[in-house]
Amino acid sequence: MTRAVIAGSGSVIASTRVTNAQIARILDTSDEWIRERSGVEQRHFAAPDVATSDLGVAAAAKALESAGVAKDEVDLVVFATMTPDHYFPGCGTLLQHKLGLRPVPCFDIRQQCSGFLYGLQLADAHVRAGMAKTVLLVGAEVHIGFMPWTRENFAFAIGESEVPPTREEWEWNSRFRHLVVLFGDAGSAVVLKATEGGERGVLDHELHGAGADYQKLYVPGTGFKHRPYTDPEQFRRGDHIPVMDGRYVFKMATANMVEVARSVLQKNGVTAEELKLVLMHQANKRINEYCARTLGLREEQVPHNIHKYGNTTAATIPLLWDECARDGRLRPGDLVLMVAFGAGMTWGASLVRA
Ligand code: ACO
Repeated sequence: MTRAVIAGSGSVIASTRVTNAQIARILDTSDEWIRERSGVEQRHFAAPDVATSDLGVAAAAKALESAGVAKDEVDLVVFATMTPDHYFPGCGTLLQHKLGLRPVPCFDIRQQCSGFLYGLQLADAHVRAGMAKTVLLVGAEVHIGFMPWTRENFAFAIGESEVPPTREEWEWNSRFRHLVVLFGDAGSAVVLKATEGGERGVLDHELHGAGADYQKLYVPGTGFKHRPYTDPEQFRRGDHIPVMDGRYVFKMATANMVEVARSVLQKNGVTAEELKLVLMHQANKRINEYCARTLGLREEQVPHNIHKYGNTTAATIPLLWDECARDGRLRPGDLVLMVAFGAGMTWGASLVRA
């Protein structure tokens, strides 16, 4: 039987570290509120000349090196992001070009916080079907483009300007405070290699998508539902910034992450006890603590990195994988469950033997 084995991983964190206290210089929030409600203590944002594909390329180069795979061996690219460099083309072909890969098929995945798991299923299906042998699966995000503040406000937040926001700017930034404090920028990638026999590899997936409540978490403007698809009026209203009903999404995330995790474990005859690690999407530490308690997981089974990076959307799960692989918490042969919930609404879980 052919299985897709995660043969290597790599990640990069964006360059500018921004603490909660720094964010509180330009909008009405506090370090205490952000820590207590979400678990985020700081995040990193990309420099103005760094795009999502750049973070993806840097992460992918590290992943290839850690897998001992040459660029020419890659025969499929899957790139998950909700913050692509351009409306089109997607980041897949940009990565192919910047990294100097052969002109292989490049898929772009747009399932937000579930993007990596959707990409993993696609990559795994190609490997199982014999259509690919070496897949580069990337998740990367540059969320700072969604942020409501001006460049001058941001410079003030990080101590590079003496000019504080005007009252109007402060109020505008504060309107989005429940959302903007959560996100950070990063890129991460894994290399999947087709492997015959053995225990290791991607074992199973369960993915879901349900659009009935998509407006609970979406970007109202800058879409082709509008004629023209973007205009100054949309920007004036803030329609280029995501809308999120936090409480609703919180409830949906906890219920669906627990249910899909249980379902995958049950189908595969695996108990929570047998899992070495459960890599949960990092949207809010309280969501994950609830899921961990409900699933009966021990603390050491559930690594977190939201305190360091915030929610890095499609980059989150491979970033956790990479950190755990590098610090020895994850070793070849360990059984790992990955679980995510995101906009769409989309959610899922994947069971992998490292
Ligand atoms: N600082 C200070 N106060 C704030 C902030 C802030 N940053 N944000 C909101 N508040 C205030 C609100 O105004 C409200 O005040 P009020 O009681 O006077 O009206 C109060 O805090 C409580 O607001 P809630 O929205 O009820 O706060 P909650 O505890 O639900 O936390 C949060 C909000 C962090 C957004 C949480 O709901 C959450 O994490 N939801 C899930 C997010 C998620 O999973 N997203 C999916 C992934 S993202 C993707 O797929 C793109």
